[in-house]
Amino acid sequence: MNIDRYLRCACFWLGFLARVCAAEPASKSPGSSPPALIAPAASVGTGLLLQPPLDLAWFTHEMFVTNASSVGTNRIHRPWTSPVVTLPAHRRSGVNGLKEEEVKAYMMDARRRFDAGEAVPLSDAGLISTQEDVVRRPMLNHIAAFSNAVVRVYLLVQKTSTDKGWSYFSIVQDLTVNPAVDYYAEVRQTGPKLEGTSCYKCHSSGPLAIHPAREDLVLDAPLAAAIGRHIASQPRSIFHFPADSPAPERGEVLALKFCSRCHSSDPDADRDALYQVQSHPIRILVDFGYMPPDRRLKPEEIVALKAWLDRKQ
Ligand code: HEC
Ligand code: HEC
Repeated sequence: MNIDRYLRCACFWLGFLARVCAAEPASKSPGSSPPALIAPAASVGTGLLLQPPLDLAWFTHEMFVTNASSVGTNRIHRPWTSPVVTLPAHRRSGVNGLKEEEVKAYMMDARRRFDAGEAVPLSDAGLISTQEDVVRRPMLNHIAAFSNAVVRVYLLVQKTSTDKGWSYFSIVQDLTVNPAVDYYAEVRQTGPKLEGTSCYKCHSSGPLAIHPAREDLVLDAPLAAAIGRHIASQPRSIFHFPADSPAPERGEVLALKFCSRCHSSDPDADRDALYQVQSHPIRILVDFGYMPPDRRLKPEEIVALKAWLDRKQ
């Protein structure tokens, strides 16, 4: 074995051990003990990435804090006891399916609360949107969660490290129907614009777990872990596509057993099925060792996954 391969192999196993040691115990009861911190992102060198892992060494913790704080220091890194802000009870009782105006009102309310410093957002440079060719520079996110008995509301306030202004996005999960229905929108000052086509490329199963691009590119790591756990405990849901933003061509379904035993359209599966259109988050979550969650893929499994990813849609 040459020294380079030896080092890569050693790093792989060290990373693996670190993750096993940091892994959350297999407890399903949310809200009990604080969750383990999110394992730091490190490529395990699967060869699945289309671009080399981005070197973010130049983007220091201080630069991150300055850049993230431009949204308003009163709005972020706030003290918290519960990671999810409780909303007042829904006005209409006995609801079976929220109306579109009600969904949009929740989105606007989340934006208003964030602006007023009434949200509890985590701030990070996200791994998935920073890596590969999506933007290929730090993508700064502030993510806040809200809920009452009928909805789970998420707000994302986002910009790249070089943008000036922040954009607002929201996901509202309507829990009054079974399965729950997820609405996506860009929340403009003038009101939310419901979206579907572009969001589905990453959000295959509703809100996505939090993955900072580096351990020190997050404000309030315990909060990120707590919101991550809230997201992971979400019910199975259906993606709402508005008429003017329909489902994109999905391509082939990912039927490799080592993924599809958890990701499939079977309602009992943990997560919804993955398709070729989701290649980007798949390449990243597998290459950075987050998927599958409990072990590393064997070389022959990586070969099979790579062949599936590289197939023309
Ligand atoms: C390139 C992939 C990608 C696309 C496309 C995308 N998102 Fe996301 N989104 C993410 C990732 C990754 C996170 C978690 C970021 C982190 O780790 O900080 C996220 C987080 C969010 C959150 C916070 C709750 C959560 O899921 O963690 C909201 C709200 C959100 N996105 C809305 C949207 C909407 C609305 C669209 C479509 C207009 C969209 N996103 C398109 C990748 C994407
Ligand atoms: C043991 C069950 C399990 C297996 C096996 C598994 N996943 Fe996941 N996956 C999850 C869970 C749970 C989440 C959401 C929570 C998280 O991201 O930590 C998830 C999230 C994801 C996401 C983000 C979209 C989503 O569903 O939220 C992608 C992409 C993904 N997995 C890809 C894969 C791929 C590719 C494989 C096979 C190499 C795989 N997973 C194997 C359980 C699994």
